[in-house]
Amino acid sequence: MSTSLELQGKHIVLGLSGGIACYKSAELVRELVKAGATVQVVMTEAAEAFITAVTLQALSNRPVYTSQWDAREPNNMAHINLSREADAVLIAPASADFMAKLVQGRADDLLSLLCLARPIERCPLLIAPAMNREMWAHPATQRNAAQLRADGTTLLGPDAGDQACGEIGDGRMLEPADLAEELIAFFQPKRLAGQRVLITAGPTFEAIDPVRGITNRSSGKMGFALARAAREAGAQVTLVAGPVALPTPRGVMRTDVQSAQQMHDAVLPMAGAHDVFIATAAVADWRPAAAHEHKIKKDGSGRPPAIEMVENPDILAAVARLPKPPYCVGFAAESQDLLAHAQAKRLRKGVPLIVGNLGPATFGQDDNTLLLVDEHGHRELPTAGKLALARELVGEIAERLKTST
Ligand code: C5P
Repeated sequence: MSTSLELQGKHIVLGLSGGIACYKSAELVRELVKAGATVQVVMTEAAEAFITAVTLQALSNRPVYTSQWDAREPNNMAHINLSREADAVLIAPASADFMAKLVQGRADDLLSLLCLARPIERCPLLIAPAMNREMWAHPATQRNAAQLRADGTTLLGPDAGDQACGEIGDGRMLEPADLAEELIAFFQPKRLAGQRVLITAGPTFEAIDPVRGITNRSSGKMGFALARAAREAGAQVTLVAGPVALPTPRGVMRTDVQSAQQMHDAVLPMAGAHDVFIATAAVADWRPAAAHEHKIKKDGSGRPPAIEMVENPDILAAVARLPKPPYCVGFAAESQDLLAHAQAKRLRKGVPLIVGNLGPATFGQDDNTLLLVDEHGHRELPTAGKLALARELVGEIAERLKTST
């Protein structure tokens, strides 16, 4: 999914404290600039031991600040000026020492000084911890992390995995692309805060024999975009995906399935524990009555084998029939007469909202056009990227959720 210009108009102060993860901060500057942000880099003295200001100036296209005594500022108050201009301060990497400093409100270098001096209401602080696993696990650091959260700081990561010291565990800084995605998510309105959202996505695969099967051209992109958009909006998201080659959006819990029956069996037991169910999956209507154990061979007669088909369970209709169903949103992928088909489908499935789209025009594409059909009528969301549409649809669902509860 493209993150192009998602940070357009945002001014980010990117602070580097000392740690080997500083080498990734160069890439992070590139990611943020690529996403349209302007980036002002501020480094601590320890960070300068790992990466030069020259590199970061070249990538950010701005002189880097390293000292609170920087004479370039006419009023000599870099800490005030920098924090007043910023839409957010992101510290990446945030060392254990720097976290401790933030907790104590110390201000003996430019970066900690500007964090303390920033207007808390207007200029949020996000930090990406990066340190050895023992340092991260130490009660002092855990205490500091908890205190920082309580003070309103957003912690991004850390990740688990290989560490520069050769050990393996928690404490790796998130990858630059992940940090950029988290920052983009941070700026999205939290319209679904605290809601639990369940989404099906992709095609299903109905086996004929061990090497063949029936599937369709759904790419899963719309469902994955919705999972990302719902999570960005503050929801706890579960994604049940058919066979697709897409990365899991950050922070989303994913279960992979193959067939419609497996998708049904994964969804039904957990649907009741969700507030919203969005069925974007292109579920096969029928499956072979029985999958052959071995590959079906040509028998020389010239006649293809007869494959008996049976109907698959309708997952969306089954969820909508639960005693206490979540707010159900269905998709209608049609090739013509979108409005009429979508209206009929809404009634047949017994769901409050159906989202129509033209299947052949959108399968596998990055763009889509959506037609929202509910009890009050219909409304088109004009052609746009799937993520942009997903965010709009999340807003529409959030509005309807307010009035349905
Ligand atoms: O019945 P039809 O496939 O046209 O309906 C499409 C909607 O129903 C989509 O939201 C799709 O995810 C859902 N569906 C389902 N289980 C099926 C068939 C469709 O959940 N077996």
